[in-house]
Amino acid sequence: MPTITVLPHPEWCNEGVSFEASPGESLLDALLTHGVTVEHACEKSCACTTCHVIVRKGLDSLNETSEKEEDMLDRAWGLTATSRLSCQAKVGTEPLEIELPRYTVNHARER
Ligand code: FES
Repeated sequence: MPTITVLPHPEWCNEGVSFEASPGESLLDALLTHGVTVEHACEKSCACTTCHVIVRKGLDSLNETSEKEEDMLDRAWGLTATSRLSCQAKVGTEPLEIELPRYTVNHARER
């Protein structure tokens, strides 16, 4: 089972965390199961960007990004070349290192 390491984030994962996930599981579900409270405003239907994460290691082991996901990602706060919507990304067999963006679109609007 691949290990997922989440880098520290001041709001959602203060000290960072590391856990094992099952291949085929969505990255968002794996994060939520392990107490990393990533937002998911559209309930995982690829219609918002609040579940955006940055994949620092292991990006190639995830499933391909769909066109719809790419379109949505364009609206994400702090988009990077290794960004994914965690509700659409399926865990593969390689270890992953995940960074949570500083803000989501929801947060950015509030500030
Ligand atoms: S939860 Fe809305 S796109 Fe992932």
